[in-house]
Amino acid sequence: MTQIRKIGICTGGGDCPGLNAVIRAAVKTAILKYRWDVIGIRDGFDGLIWPEKTRPLTINDVSGLLPRGGTILGTTNRGNPFAYKLQNDGQEIVRDFSDDVIRNAKAMGLDCLIVIGGDGTQKLGLDLYKKGLPVVGVPKTIDNDLCATEVTFGFDTALHTATDAIDKIHTTAESHHRVMVVEVMGRDAGWIALEAGIAGGAHVILIPEIPFQIDNICRFINQRHIFGKKFTIVCVAEGVHVPEDVERQYREKHGDLPRSGAVSNLIADAIGECAKKEVRVTVLGHIQRGGSPSPFDRILSTRFGVAVVDLIAQGGFGKMVALRDSRMKFVEISEAIGKMKAVDPNGELVQAAKSIDIHFGDD
Ligand code: F6P
Repeated sequence: MTQIRKIGICTGGGDCPGLNAVIRAAVKTAILKYRWDVIGIRDGFDGLIWPEKTRPLTINDVSGLLPRGGTILGTTNRGNPFAYKLQNDGQEIVRDFSDDVIRNAKAMGLDCLIVIGGDGTQKLGLDLYKKGLPVVGVPKTIDNDLCATEVTFGFDTALHTATDAIDKIHTTAESHHRVMVVEVMGRDAGWIALEAGIAGGAHVILIPEIPFQIDNICRFINQRHIFGKKFTIVCVAEGVHVPEDVERQYREKHGDLPRSGAVSNLIADAIGECAKKEVRVTVLGHIQRGGSPSPFDRILSTRFGVAVVDLIAQGGFGKMVALRDSRMKFVEISEAIGKMKAVDPNGELVQAAKSIDIHFGDD
């Protein structure tokens, strides 16, 4: 087995609460338990393309990091070393820097690279591993849609933020007898919308996994009205598939689609038309990615950070840490990528929500 002396660590893709807690735990474990050196690679893999961006990480550097959101290493979701987009005389060019990455990692004396990131970043890590760089992974996404692990850090914090927002929307919705559409993150999966919707007491939840019709939602809103509930909260995942007629109607009325918060604006407009209600939109956006990690995320991040260094010590290159049956497990990175953990429309959580009269716009 390779004798480990020095490891690198990088964070790639969208940031997320808990990244710094992983870095802190990994650096402490590497230095205190194994006496290795740690190099912080800046901005995803960029620090391996431009080595002047890297720096050693000491115990002092990670002091006070546990409650801090973001990542001290910086991140990017545009830094694919195999097809890097650059500007050259105002023109975009694409360059393959993967050989530079391998060469620079060797020159720095890195015996292994810890890659903290979601599906896209883990795939790049695996491709670098196949090219000869020893790599191990830590899964990350607030969307919680990575299939190899029960849960990813950042999701719980995002859930708290979204639930708190829905709680606040409640009082103003009720006072004004309005329909309030709250858009949360979830590009491909509806986990944040489903769980924050349930936790925040939303009346309608719209997720990519369950096709919906505006007429169904309006019928439900009108029924609520008849029963004396003159307000409705609709929690929408940003990745929902808006029915074609809704998009067409919006274009006809407004000329174009809105630049941001497109989905919730379309839905709000259509509900306003058919339910004849006053509708307002709140797009939570990147607020869900910021701030201090929740206690759950701090603990999960710490466990991941410790476990990934133990994984290196065991020579488990090409593998990733994961939470399974509430325990730390090592799984192949290839198992985690390319597949998505979607909400099961017939699963217990959706059925529980339906049992308490939360509507999904599907009937
Ligand atoms: O995948 C995590 C995520 O937060 C998605 O929910 C969201 O669509 C996306 O990242 C936003 O990315 P960006 O920071 O590039 O706008």
